Amino acid sequence: MMRLSGVVLLMAVVACACASALASPFQPRIADVKNLAVYSTWQRPGVGNATLYAAHAPGYDEPIYVLNITGVDHHAIGYGYGILMANQSIENFENLINALLPEKDLQLVLEAYCDWQYEYIIHNLPQDFQDEIKGIEEGTADIGLPHAAKCIKRALTIASIAVGDLSRDILYLLKNELSRHPSSSLAAAAARLQQRGLDIDAIAEAIATSKVLSLGRTCSMFGAWGTRTENGRLFSGRNLDWAADTGIAKNKLVTVYHIGENTVPYASVSFSGVIGAITGISAAGITVHEAGDDTRNVTLNGFAWSLRLRALMEEAKNMDDALSFWKRTRNTMGMNHGVGSAADNKFLAMETEEDYTAYFFDNDPREANFVVDGKHYGFPLKDAVWRTNHGYDPTFRADGFSSHPGTDSFNRYLLLHDTFLGYETASVAISDVQAVNLTAVVGDKGGSSRDSFLSCQNAAQGSNIISATFKPSTTGHATMYLAFENGHKDQHVPACCNNYIKFDMNQFFGV
Ligand SMILES: *[C@@H]1O[C@H](CO)[C@@H](O)[C@H](O)[C@H]1NC(C)=O
Ligand SMILES: *[C@@H]1O[C@H](CO)[C@@H](O)[C@H](O)[C@H]1NC(C)=O
Ligand SMILES: *[C@@H]1O[C@H](CO)[C@@H](O)[C@H](O)[C@H]1NC(C)=O
Ligand SMILES: *[C@@H]1O[C@H](CO)[C@@H](O)[C@H](O)[C@H]1NC(C)=O
Ligand SMILES: *[C@@H]1O[C@H](CO)[C@@H](O)[C@H](O)[C@H]1NC(C)=O
Repeated sequence: MMRLSGVVLLMAVVACACASALASPFQPRIADVKNLAVYSTWQRPGVGNATLYAAHAPGYDEPIYVLNITGVDHHAIGYGYGILMANQSIENFENLINALLPEKDLQLVLEAYCDWQYEYIIHNLPQDFQDEIKGIEEGTADIGLPHAAKCIKRALTIASIAVGDLSRDILYLLKNELSRHPSSSLAAAAARLQQRGLDIDAIAEAIATSKVLSLGRTCSMFGAWGTRTENGRLFSGRNLDWAADTGIAKNKLVTVYHIGENTVPYASVSFSGVIGAITGISAAGITVHEAGDDTRNVTLNGFAWSLRLRALMEEAKNMDDALSFWKRTRNTMGMNHGVGSAADNKFLAMETEEDYTAYFFDNDPREANFVVDGKHYGFPLKDAVWRTNHGYDPTFRADGFSSHPGTDSFNRYLLLHDTFLGYETASVAISDVQAVNLTAVVGDKGGSSRDSFLSCQNAAQGSNIISATFKPSTTGHATMYLAFENGHKDQHVPACCNNYIKFDMNQFFGV
């Protein structure tokens, strides 16, 4: 960590001094933005405007970018995004693909597969999101980087692919292409791969099992309120544990959207080129979360989840709004989602699959009663809900791939339970530091045992790449603590072991 600033080194020394031994209790690190600099701007009278900020902060070799964008409609903000984010979007997409599927001809096959699947995804998006993507195509074309729109659409597809039988679908695509368009660039790539001894079954298998498509998202989320928290207010958090050190952390991006007259301003946490929300918080005090939980029942005929989370923040002001939005829109794949609402001081976990959602608030009997072969797997509490990568609803579980939670997922579920209980026993009301701790403690630090989550000692292999804690507010006076991964190889630091950077969201929400 050669480039860490003196401030961080000093903090690390202080932390070691008061925390005596290696087996000291886990302690997350929090820091402020050091300098918020204007990086670039865009303005089109009557249409929209945007400022891209670079937030420089200790623990980060590259800034965390914040795009504050205002537009009359989705098309306008898509256009501005295209203008300001084109280069970063291309760079991130190429970094990701080169890291996870280095062979160029296989990349061509993957891209063709994404372009095909994208047609299903776009077809199922509401018109305003289709317009936004049209705006992105126009903006990126107007600055001479139309390739960026392709990267953005492929990244959306990779985030949205509902698994199913991938190699069968890719095989279908290849056979079709070779017989119908034998002189296309895709057919040429397939022919080159065949010359090198990969038959088309093997090509399909190589893409289907490549890390880009098959790497599981572990992830976790929680919400706590009421008797557990300071002044009873809601705190929530979310981890993205997926593909570490691919190079996409070069362009980390929080986009704060102000769209038209009638939507709620909101912040979407993501990477440049990924237009969906990995997680987010709105000016009305709504937070959105996700954690993978695969099922057999999947479809692309639904609302691509990462854009659906944005649409939810755009419209919901409270839990009732969020629930009615969810019931009105369609699931795609097996996943756990979460929604926090400051207006209600509540958090909702949703176990979702094609055409089915199970809703969970706190202390749910379905969770308490989950027993397999005499072993108890559910320990719900009052005034808190959390999820890792398994579900509790009997119908949802029946469509999953395993009768009981995986060890890693269950260890993290229990660790969150125990951390809540630890605060309760010690009469500690959860406030900012504790909420950041609840987020950080279950971020992937390179192992799956309970101990591996309690130390950053061997965390270079940790796959926690985004970790976010929210203190939402109905009046826009929200705080976000945001950590990303940093550094490479044996110097890699997963998000949960890096500094959580404190962002006062009111300056961006402007309410
Ligand atoms: C940006 O657009 C909004 C909405 O049209 C407008 O209120 C604001 O004044 C504009 N800001 C700048 C700097 O042009
Ligand atoms: C995009 O990046 C290229 C290469 O670094 C640079 O030459 C070009 O000016 C950039 N374009 C924009 C619009 O930022
Ligand atoms: C999931 O798919 C199976 C097989 O098609 C079906 O029997 C089951 O009812 C589905 N689950 C739900 C919740 O719809
Ligand atoms: C964070 O949580 C861990 C695990 O429960 C606990 O050991 C540690 O004391 C907590 N740290 C803080 C600062 O609350
Ligand atoms: C972000 O944009 C909103 C709406 O245009 C504006 O009110 C707010 O002041 C902006 N904040 C920053 C820091 O640029």
